[in-house]
Amino acid sequence: MAKTEKQIAKDMKLVDAVVEIIDARIPYSSRNPVLSRLIGAKPRVVVMNKADLADPNETVKWLAYFQQQGFGALAVDSKSGKNVNQLLPQVEHVLKDKIAQWREKGMAGRKIRIMIVGIPNVGKSSLINRLARGSKAAVENRPGVTRSNQWFPVGKNIELLDTPGVLWPKFDDPQVGEHLAFTGAVKDDVLDTELLACRLLETLCEISPAILEKRYRIAAEETEGLNGAALLELVGKKRGMLAGGGMVDTERAARMLLEEFRSAKIGRITLEQAGM
Ligand code: G4P
Repeated sequence: MAKTEKQIAKDMKLVDAVVEIIDARIPYSSRNPVLSRLIGAKPRVVVMNKADLADPNETVKWLAYFQQQGFGALAVDSKSGKNVNQLLPQVEHVLKDKIAQWREKGMAGRKIRIMIVGIPNVGKSSLINRLARGSKAAVENRPGVTRSNQWFPVGKNIELLDTPGVLWPKFDDPQVGEHLAFTGAVKDDVLDTELLACRLLETLCEISPAILEKRYRIAAEETEGLNGAALLELVGKKRGMLAGGGMVDTERAARMLLEEFRSAKIGRITLEQAGM
């Protein structure tokens, strides 16, 4: 077992529930399948982060999909903090039977211990900072309560392991690698920027040609039968990105396209449909 997996397996023994954080734009590709084995039957809340960048209708479908599997599920934007306050109630909900048992055994004050796990760049630190911010006053106002090294309190009843579990994404399926690259989860220099932009344009056209129409004024009829390279030329042309000799500066167009996709200027787009 890889070192990080071993660490997560070890930490897993210390917690009552796991918060699995994923990217709402790529809910399938941003999940590491190994995690489910590591979590086992432990209660879990799936946090669809970066929901501000994803299609809200698709997010609703994905939330239902995760709930059907018996997980708590919620969509948040850890950058602005939107919905983050719903996480603790969700954790308490997935643990309600256990909490009732504790109460019966006279352990009503027992704190719930949780950890956050996710792939790099998915927003673990942002979420932890948000949660910590919410509980800071409560910690400081209680004399004699010092912060332990390993845990910090969030809300009244919960303690969070202070280091998140970092899992690498899995690349066996080339589409997974591509989707991770589109969203910027893996570095661009691993893949050719222009090639990536071409594939992104093809993917966007498959989802809906209206996407390119809205942002780049490229009508659906114009895109018919075009491959990614031709689409990229068209995008560059529409934006007046010309190099010498009237040629389109496709590298500049590619960088612009990826930036506009990642910041959702093109629109709030989810690349993967629920239940994949
Ligand atoms: P990690 O700990 O899992 O590696 O992720 P981290 O929190 O560092 O977040 C990675 C990037 O994603 C950061 O952007 C962060 O601001 C952004 N991010 C996290 N959560 C959200 C969210 O819900 N919505 C949006 N739109 N972005 C989010 P960065 O470019 O690395 O830094 P910066 O933009 O904050 O300067």
